[in-house]
This record gives sequence, C-alpha cells and structure tokens, in this order.
Amino acid sequence: MPGTKNKSRSKPAGKHTKRLGILTGGGDCPGLNAAIRATVKTALNSGWRVYGIKGGFAGLLDPKKHIISLGPDDIKGIIHIGGTILGTTNRGNPFAFPVKVGDEWVEKDLSEKALAGVKEAGLDAVIAIGGDGSLRIAKQFYDKGLPIVGIPKTIDNDLYGTHITFGFDTAVSTATDAIDKLHSTAESHQRVMVVEVMGRYAGWIALNAGVAGGADVILIPEIPFEMKYVVRKTDERYKTGSNFAIIITAEGATPKGEEQRTVFKKVGQEVKLGGIGDYVAGEVERLSGHESRSLVLGHLQRGGQPTTSDRLLATRFGSAAVRLANEGFFGQMVALDPPHIKSVPLEDAISRTRSVPLTSDIIRAARDMGISFGDE
Ligand code: F6P
Repeated sequence: MPGTKNKSRSKPAGKHTKRLGILTGGGDCPGLNAAIRATVKTALNSGWRVYGIKGGFAGLLDPKKHIISLGPDDIKGIIHIGGTILGTTNRGNPFAFPVKVGDEWVEKDLSEKALAGVKEAGLDAVIAIGGDGSLRIAKQFYDKGLPIVGIPKTIDNDLYGTHITFGFDTAVSTATDAIDKLHSTAESHQRVMVVEVMGRYAGWIALNAGVAGGADVILIPEIPFEMKYVVRKTDERYKTGSNFAIIITAEGATPKGEEQRTVFKKVGQEVKLGGIGDYVAGEVERLSGHESRSLVLGHLQRGGQPTTSDRLLATRFGSAAVRLANEGFFGQMVALDPPHIKSVPLEDAISRTRSVPLTSDIIRAARDMGISFGDE
C-alpha cells in the first residue's frame, strides 16, 4: 500500500467521472462475488463509475456485448454466493487467443484489439481478480500502458506475494468434509479410500485438509512419493487393527522420477491434470491386496458458499484494490501480510509459485503424528 517500494504512479484521467472496469478471470472460486461487491461499493463511494467486464479479459474483445454498467442494485445479496456474477474463463487470454484457422485451432495475439475495447468503453483503469494466469495477463496489459490493479484469488493458494488467497479456506473445508464422510464408508468396508483434490503445483489443499481430516497419507507436488512407502503406511493401519486407511493426493502429486499425470491439453488452455488418485488406488490394491477406491473431488472444491474468512479476505482485497486505483498506484496486486493488507508489484506476484515449504510446521506436525508423505 502507500509507502511500498517500486511505485509506478499514473493517475487515471481526471477531466470526466473516472470509469473503473472489473473482471474475474481464470477458474472461479468461492469469494469472487464478495470481492466484486466490495470493489463496486468502494469504487462507487470513491466517485468512480463502475463497469463489469463479463467473461474475463476476453470480454474486452467485444465491449458492446460484454461491458456492463454496475450500480448498487447489481451487487445486492451476493456476498454469500459462490461463482462470479461477471462470469469467467480460463481460455480467454487475449495474448494467446484460440482462433480457428481452417480446421486448426491456433493461438493469436489479440491484445491490441482488447486495448481498443478498453478505449471504446472509456475505462480509465481495470481491477482484475484472478490467479497466476490472469495476473500474468494483467501484467502484460500493464506493460502495454493499461492502468491495472490485481486481486489474488485461487483455491490452490499458490500465488506468491500473499500469505493466502480467498477461495482456499472454503476449498479446504469442502475437502475436509469429504474426508470426514469417507471415514465411515472406508471403515465399514475395510477399504483404502483415495481422495484426489485440486492443487496443480502446490499441495496446500491436500496438506491442510489431510491434517484437519485425519488422513493417513498425504501426497503433494512438493514431495515426490514412492508407492512402497505409501503401502507401508496403509499396511501398518491394517496390522495395528485399524482396518481402513485414507489417502489424500493433490492432482499435481507425482511418483518419484515421473511426470505429472495429464488428461489433455487444448489450444489456449492450461494442460488438464488428473488420474493420480486412480493410479494410487490401483497400486495400493495391486501391491497390498487391500481393496481400494478413488474419488476425485474436482470442481466441488470451487463451488458453494464462501466461508466467513474467505468473504472477509475478499472484501478486504476488493476495498484495498480500489484504494490503490484511487491513488493512481497501478501494476500492483493487493496481498495479505498478516494482519495487514499491502501491495506487491504484479511482476513479483507472478515471478514464482507459492509452494508448501518443506520446513512448514504443518508438515512437521503431520510427520510427528505418523502421517506419511510417501517419501520415507
Ligand atoms: O483454479 C485452479 C484449479 O483449481 C486447479 O487446481 C485445477 O487444475 C484447475 O483449476 C482446473 O480448472 P478447469 O477444470 O476449470 O480448467
């Protein structure tokens, strides 16, 4: 926030009532509507006219259809609702937009067209609510002269520069609830149940839900695993009379020396991960003989009502982002540095992934209690 290093100030135009655009990009998550609400309320109270850009950055390519005026009535009663009233996409990057040429899909740079859309809509600044992909796009537009502020969101909690992102707490609660429910069926059938949760490059959801839900094995991308150690732990459960076991794995976890398991890659989209839960369940059954089942929690983690702490964080981020725009402080992302909200340059925020540190106290507590990470 004010006082932060690396400031780059460029005041929005002052001759007319300033116009602020808001968009949500990338995968949705609980808390987006709370962030939109706080942004709109704060901006209206600060004298901006506010516009919603529907469908993420791609909405800028067709402003007449996708840019709408937002007033107090448009954000009534949405703080507790999942999803985003503005819509979103994770295949609408104007710098690599999927376009069909003949029979082939190719990626084209339509960023100039998007900037023309900003001009056509008369926007003086944009607030982009997104994860690493969307904030990377935000940085590219900032470099092309668009005054932009980022708000971090993702259930994966893997954005560098902020202690936490909203959406994460709700996703962890959903995953913990799933483990709670799996306990009784695992115990009744004396099975090994494997739950695959989201987390492409960071295992925050698996780690937190695994510890909170009492899992026996937690597999995360930061710790390559070996099946022999996973099975040693599940076997131990049966030998000591607890005739079932719960394994939680992040979608991005990998067996040592192997690549992440992928489903497909489409033009203009991130590679789709999946399959590690099935693999682990199959291997447990093959190596130990214990009946195993796997379950992919998938997009359930991205849905539903945001928890209290996600609503609160989203609200704080939304207001703080408008304060930055009020000061003409762009190219920044709002971030939580407990107990404060600060800002970090977008450049820093996208510079690396916020992985689970191997020295994390949660990992330590888990190991102390005998939870296996499949590495020893
Ligand atoms: O938001 C990030 C994420 O939840 C990843 O963990 C996951 O790989 C991805 O979204 C899936 O997104 P989609 O199915 O919407 O392409």
